[in-house]
Amino acid sequence: MPNYAAAIIGLTGIAARRPTEPGDVPLAGAMPGSHAAAYHRHPQAAVVAVCDVRPAMIAQFQQTWRDVWPEVRGYTDYRALLADERLDLVSVCTPDHLHADITVAAAASGARAILCEKPIATTRADADRMIAAAEAHGVLLSIEHTRRWSPIYTRAQQLVRSGRYGALRAIHCQMVGPRAMLFRNGTHVIDIMCAFAASDPAWVIADLEPGFDHYTAYQSDGGHDPATDPAASAYVHFANGVRAFYHSMKTPFAGIQFDLFCDSARIEVTDGSLVVVQVGDHGQWSRTSVPHDHYMAAYQLGAVSELIRVLEHGGDLVSSGREARKTVDIMLGILESHAGGHRRVPLSQ
Ligand SMILES: NC(=O)c1ccc[n+]([C@@H]2O[C@H](COP(=O)([O-])OP(=O)(O)OC[C@H]3O[C@@H](n4cnc5c(N)ncnc54)[C@H](O)[C@@H]3O)[C@@H](O)[C@H]2O)c1
Repeated sequence: MPNYAAAIIGLTGIAARRPTEPGDVPLAGAMPGSHAAAYHRHPQAAVVAVCDVRPAMIAQFQQTWRDVWPEVRGYTDYRALLADERLDLVSVCTPDHLHADITVAAAASGARAILCEKPIATTRADADRMIAAAEAHGVLLSIEHTRRWSPIYTRAQQLVRSGRYGALRAIHCQMVGPRAMLFRNGTHVIDIMCAFAASDPAWVIADLEPGFDHYTAYQSDGGHDPATDPAASAYVHFANGVRAFYHSMKTPFAGIQFDLFCDSARIEVTDGSLVVVQVGDHGQWSRTSVPHDHYMAAYQLGAVSELIRVLEHGGDLVSSGREARKTVDIMLGILESHAGGHRRVPLSQ
């Protein structure tokens, strides 16, 4: 029987989507791609209540999941939900700039763990009060930077940490696509940059895409219109000496790639591949694909599984509020550098 009562606040696709289960293949249990699907797949979790300011989103959730949670309760005010329900897990899936108040209230509500969508917040002050509230109430706070629970990216981190190819010296991150926006999607890329660097960002120098000279603080509409959130090129220097380059460009074709420069190899990582490139004795390049393991719990289900495991057995979260704050610090540093004539902006403030 499920013994972790969950609620989801904000009910668009990342929160509520239900994967299709093809009837013509002998495979049961499609990979979850949302918070609801992750709670569905986790044997110890069940969604008891949901919230959205738009009643139609609540009705849609109840319709989509009626065979799984026929009695799920709907609220249009998150404060009423937090007051009325006895919750273990709270998912915060509202727009980027609307995570903080809800997370702070959830931390004070008696819930035991919060899974908040990325980025943690769009200001350092909001991130700080979310972290402070979670720590003050002894509540776990995990930020859903999805690739933290990706088999490919975790395998790549293992390769780097193994030291097999020497020390990591530099990281090149590329993100292209119509939605190559800094806060909306760059969040994921910069977070994985931090995961590979395994250090605190020390300073940044940056240049935004043309037309964003006015953009000195987060001014997006919640990540809907790419015209309200810039692409950027930036150099991030980490405290351990790792040099990281972030380059995003709004193009019709989409994709992300990381090149990890170690002493004796370059490791190429994308969402679908992991390749080690080395130079042989005669100067020729060799490319070796590295297989990765498959897991029962990845992505959002990985995040939920990790929270429940840490609640039961203790340990650190891979995408804690403090870890996610680094990404906000870098993104705001990018804006500040551009606005200051591409000046060097100190980070970890
Ligand atoms: N991890 C991922 O890959 C991924 C993918 C998509 C979106 N996201 C993140 O998920 C979040 C939601 O993104 P979105 O584009 O679906 O947002 P959105 O602007 O569509 O809003 C999500 C929902 O929140 C509701 N909402 C807004 N304010 C609310 C409040 N005070 N109380 C209750 N509900 C409220 C809205 O009505 C809407 O239904 C963002 O932080 C976004 O960055 C993450």
